[in-house]
Amino acid sequence: MNNKIVIANLKSYMTLGETKNYLRMIDNKLIHNKVVFCPSNIYIPYFLERGLTVGVQNVNYFNCTGELTIEQVKSNNINYCIIGHSERKLFLNEKDINKKIIHSLNNDLNVIICIGETEEERSMFKTNSVLKRQLINYLRDVKKDVVIAYEPIWAIGSNTIPSISNIEDIVCYIKNISKSMFGLDVKVLYGGSVNSSNIDSLSGIKNLDGFLIGKASTDANEFLKILEVVGNQ
Ligand code: PGA
Repeated sequence: MNNKIVIANLKSYMTLGETKNYLRMIDNKLIHNKVVFCPSNIYIPYFLERGLTVGVQNVNYFNCTGELTIEQVKSNNINYCIIGHSERKLFLNEKDINKKIIHSLNNDLNVIICIGETEEERSMFKTNSVLKRQLINYLRDVKKDVVIAYEPIWAIGSNTIPSISNIEDIVCYIKNISKSMFGLDVKVLYGGSVNSSNIDSLSGIKNLDGFLIGKASTDANEFLKILEVVGNQ
């Protein structure tokens, strides 16, 4: 069994009926044991009652309508949170990512921090400088090792992924910057259009510590196929 982490970012997909059906389909079939399910908040209890590892898609450090606080998350025995997903930055103008990270780490939550460049930035060869800027902003005062999810914004939900060698280089770049500037040994995940057709080649990427999977993780059969490949690598 390898140590790759798989985060299922279920976003706002699935109705209650679909969620229950999904859970029935994956029940007892998870051969890969490092899977963190991040469902819609209203479905979290269904995942917990099946003994699955759960994370939240976002967390906040102050009491605010429509948000979950770190204390609420921890009091439900949830130990993972995604912070700074590009959809939240784009559609909800989320900004205080560093503050969320620091508060979460102070409360012993494991954080998965999302970074990634837009299509335009990529076409202007700015990927590395954009990632570096994001790391500098997000990792300020971070003293614990964290997980970074590299998710090129143009690859999310698009059925296109960067080349394998490109991802390999970026994983090294993120690890080097995190180590040299912050003294951190981060784990790096890849996210963006991961599916059962590309997981074989993605799994071969050197130094990659796992995957953050959106749409493909919401289809039980597709997700189980992906986990089988990851688990057998
Ligand atoms: P996707 O989403 O796998 O559907 O591209 C990934 C993400 O947004 O985290």
